[in-house]
Amino acid sequence: MITVAQVSDIHIGTSERNEARARRLFAHLAELPRPVDAVVITGDIADHGAPEEYEKIRALIATLPYPVFTCPGNHDERGAYVKVLLGEEREGAEQGPVNRVHSAGGAVFALCDSVIPGKPGGYLADETLQWLDRVLADAPDDAPVFVCFRHPPVLVHAPYLDGMRQTGGERLAAVLGRHHDVVAILTGHAHTPAATTFAGLPLLIAPSVISTLTLPWDGEGLIDEEAPAALAYHVLDDDRRLITHFRVVL
Ligand SMILES: [Fe+2]
Repeated sequence: MITVAQVSDIHIGTSERNEARARRLFAHLAELPRPVDAVVITGDIADHGAPEEYEKIRALIATLPYPVFTCPGNHDERGAYVKVLLGEEREGAEQGPVNRVHSAGGAVFALCDSVIPGKPGGYLADETLQWLDRVLADAPDDAPVFVCFRHPPVLVHAPYLDGMRQTGGERLAAVLGRHHDVVAILTGHAHTPAATTFAGLPLLIAPSVISTLTLPWDGEGLIDEEAPAALAYHVLDDDRRLITHFRVVL
C-alpha cells in the first residue's frame, strides 16, 4: 500500500495569515501518527516567486520526515524555484520547463511543469510531453506512476477557473495512452477538492491551503477565504485500487 499526501496552492509570501495556515498544515503532516510515503505539492508554493518565499517553504518542508516532491505553479518563478527550493545550481533554469522524476514507496512520481511563464493558464510544452513519454517508458516494470502537474486539463465548471485551465490536453492523453502503469494524475490550481477522469485515469484535484474556489451554485464571489486549509490523501492498495480522502486542517 502506498499513501501520498498532496498539498497545493500554499501561496507563501502574501500575508502572515497565509504563513500561519502553512505552518498549521505542515505541523499536521509532521505529526501524523503513521508516516506517509511521500508528499506532493502541486504548485503556487510561493505567491510572488521571491527567493525569501522559497526559503520559508523550504524550512517548512525540512520539518517533514517524508520525501517531498514539487511541481511549479503560475505564481512560482522558475529561477528562484530551482535555485532556492530545489537547491540546484543551474544556469538558465528559468528558460525551460522544470520537470523532475522521483521514486518513493515503490511508486514513481513524474512531476511536470505545466506553467506558461507570465500567464495564469497552463500547457504542457512538447519538451515536457517528450520527457514524460521517456519517464513512463523507463519506469521500472510494475511500478505505479503518479503523473503530477499543476493545471487540470479539464473543465471544473467554475468560469473563473476554467478561463485558466490547461489546454492541449489531447496531446497528454496520447502520451498516457501509450503506457500502462499510470495510476492517477494529481493536479492543483483549482483551489477546490475535486475528482474526475482524464484519458481513462483518475484525475484528482487537491484543495488549497489558503482559500477555496466559490462554485457557481455556492453563491457570490470568486474565492472563499473563510474555508479552512485542506489537503488530499491518496491511498493505492496492493490491487492498484486508489481511493482519495480530503481533509481540512483547522
Ligand atoms: Fe493558487
